[in-house]
Amino acid sequence: MSYQFQVTKVNETSLPKVDFNNIPFGKTFSDHMFVADYINGEWTNLEIKPIELIPTHPGNMAWHYGQAIFEGMKATRDAEGHALLFRPELHAKRLNNSAKRMSMPEVPEELFLQALHTLVDMEKAWIPPQTGSALYIRPFMYATDATIGVKASDTYKFIIFVMPVGPYYTNPVKLLAQDTYVRAVVGGVGEAKTAGNYAASLLPATMARKEGYDQVMWLDGVHKKFIQEVGTMNIFFVVGDEIITPNLDGAILDGITRKCMIELFKDKGYKVTERPITIDEIVEASKNGSLVEIFGTGTAAVVAPVSHLKYKDEIIELDMAKRNISKWAYDTINGIRNRTIEDKFGWIVEA
Ligand code: COI
Repeated sequence: MSYQFQVTKVNETSLPKVDFNNIPFGKTFSDHMFVADYINGEWTNLEIKPIELIPTHPGNMAWHYGQAIFEGMKATRDAEGHALLFRPELHAKRLNNSAKRMSMPEVPEELFLQALHTLVDMEKAWIPPQTGSALYIRPFMYATDATIGVKASDTYKFIIFVMPVGPYYTNPVKLLAQDTYVRAVVGGVGEAKTAGNYAASLLPATMARKEGYDQVMWLDGVHKKFIQEVGTMNIFFVVGDEIITPNLDGAILDGITRKCMIELFKDKGYKVTERPITIDEIVEASKNGSLVEIFGTGTAAVVAPVSHLKYKDEIIELDMAKRNISKWAYDTINGIRNRTIEDKFGWIVEA
């Protein structure tokens, strides 16, 4: 099925004002956005138009009851200048999984993909060519009924907007394991990419920053022992010759970069295990010398090496000279994204 979009273009692009060598993450936006409304059980008013403010009633249910979900994706370019998308269908599916959990309507996968391709093709001049930079794509959906009262909204907006970005982390990351506050419990909304999960990370992240750490590393909500993820990414450990990462238990975000890394590591012949991992086990591995690397993965973060992990009074300092696996992972995923490394799994699609 092909959808019809109304397209209105800007009179003058703001691209010449952007310095691709100096782009702070998430503050510079391209010229256009895609917008659709969910009314009477269907997606309508499909439109690409100049990016603008969205008038919103104070009773908007998203503000009060939190029906707000999003995706984070990236478009890159190859040496010939083609705009490339990375596994877009997985993002369409994950958005719809989040929608189901948050009692929101699904976006038909064909609509998601057509809107994405059309917008990214229109904005391809905004894709920075520098390795490690990309056009970050933010599809999101939120409730739009103006009603005070806890129920699912009847109407929604689905929007995609895009922004050129540099690296999310420019230095190895310092993590503080959080043993007071929790992000999610099994059965909650931890697996959904919903706004409140990120709001939950803000106070602990501020506390971590006061202690000189960049982000919080979450422990499970019941035992406060099992490692879940970081405020901005999934987490991997290299212990001996094994790569381990927490298994998806319903409370952890099903990260697309996480999934790709597991596939790439297996293909390369590394031993990769998804299983429950306790913080005590990692402290012990550090003490006995078997902990080699810690790194995070995410669309924004890509593959981010961790230099320090603090838990209670223990501070683990990683030897950055030993970051072989995370370096290989970073180079490989970036190489696939700009087609300097063969895309043997067929993850890349031209926009
Ligand atoms: C992403 O990695 O795309 C996210 O949504 C996480 C956020 C820290 C930007």
